[in-house]
Amino acid sequence: MNIRLARVTDDLMAMQAGNLVNLPENYNQKLWIYHLMTWPQISFVAEDPKGRIVGYVLAKITEPDEAEEDAPTGGDAGVTHGHINSLSVFRTYRRLGIAKKLMLQSQHAMATVYRAKFVSLHVRRSNTAALGLYRDALGFDVSQIVAGYYADKEDAYAMKLVLSP
Ligand code: ACO
Repeated sequence: MNIRLARVTDDLMAMQAGNLVNLPENYNQKLWIYHLMTWPQISFVAEDPKGRIVGYVLAKITEPDEAEEDAPTGGDAGVTHGHINSLSVFRTYRRLGIAKKLMLQSQHAMATVYRAKFVSLHVRRSNTAALGLYRDALGFDVSQIVAGYYADKEDAYAMKLVLSP
């Protein structure tokens, strides 16, 4: 399995296809293009030996002077941080450590390229696999419960991990 930077020219369709299959939260193509072109160093894909995309992480950076819509709690205004928009791995490739590797690569790039102080994300309360990954394997903490965050009104855990300089 190869983990490499996502390329807007080659990977957009495959990443979006993975997102549609694996998650109910989907985004229009403009958002994918915007993220990959604005922060090209922090989104990654996993490809199998034939070059097929089997997983991805899509991430963004929030600068100090921007709205804190993704910040997990108040009090983080003025801090450059990363945010994970979407992460998924195709079912037959799960529990092989792919998501963990994608996250670690993205986190490292956030800290080194953008000097991001922490990374945030939202996850459904019922998503035991993702919670296992974020909390147990990567060390994220729940910083807030956001009631009715998702379109179907399920609550989200807002999670946060402080990044090493
Ligand atoms: N149950 C409990 N713990 C789990 C599970 C699970 N099903 N899956 C992963 N973990 C934890 C374990 O600690 C695991 O280590 P171990 O296998 O040595 O026990 C560790 O996370 C690393 O797991 P990976 O193999 O790296 O995870 P995987 O590649 O299988 O991907 C993912 C995990 C992304 C959650 C996958 O199940 C998936 O694509 N699910 C559907 C999409 C999804 O829910 N994405 C996250 C939404 S939140 C967001 O996008 C911000």
